[in-house]
Amino acid sequence: MDEYDRREFLSLSLPGFLGVLTALPSLCAFATRANAAEGRLPAGEAMHWEAFLEAVGKEAAKQHLDAWSQDDYVKTISTLASRLHLEDPVLTKAMEQLTTRLKHGNVDFQYLEQRVDFSLCLVQFDEGEVIRPHDHPGMTGMILCASGEIETSNFDPVEMPDLQAAAGHQFLKRVGQAVLKPNDISTLTAKARNIHTLRARKVTQLVDIFTPPYNDERVEQSHWFELAPEAVPGQPDVFEAKPV
Ligand SMILES: [Fe+2]
Repeated sequence: MDEYDRREFLSLSLPGFLGVLTALPSLCAFATRANAAEGRLPAGEAMHWEAFLEAVGKEAAKQHLDAWSQDDYVKTISTLASRLHLEDPVLTKAMEQLTTRLKHGNVDFQYLEQRVDFSLCLVQFDEGEVIRPHDHPGMTGMILCASGEIETSNFDPVEMPDLQAAAGHQFLKRVGQAVLKPNDISTLTAKARNIHTLRARKVTQLVDIFTPPYNDERVEQSHWFELAPEAVPGQPDVFEAKPV
């Protein structure tokens, strides 16, 4: 292994030094924006887009640590999302295209940020549109309702040996149910509430953050389900789930 003298790291040629000086104002401006989540903005003040992304990125990088807690992570980014300035130009520009994008007739997905550690997607629903139950293998999710109104239900797999043997497929237990309105948030982790379904009561726009983000492997490992319309007798939150 090469050994370096500490002075080699500290020494800088004059042109290099001048280059750093020239870049300092923009570096400082970037750092100030990026650090806005660390107390430079008064608590409760809305966060602009870049500060929000940098704060989420910093938290998402912790997924590579052995001690990463997904529960703590979704709580932390939910707190950040509740401070996101929904009138930020990046977001409003994307949200303004709603009418055009919904003309295609399907739930519309538009990535606003894609990084190695997380992705941020604007998901737009026309009234009555549904995303059927599906899981997110190995992923966490945070959903912020930016506009509209949408029903969401979360499920966990549940062991029902006798019923599974008879039906030949699995059962899901509903572990959460909510109607999201602007600024409401829903979360899931790899181990809890990982399966969800959504139905829009109104034209709705959601900001989703998935950590880690979808890749080919995770898309391939995803499962989609069709739930029985009625719960299992005597188990009001347990539903037979056929793979789709
Ligand atoms: Fe989902």
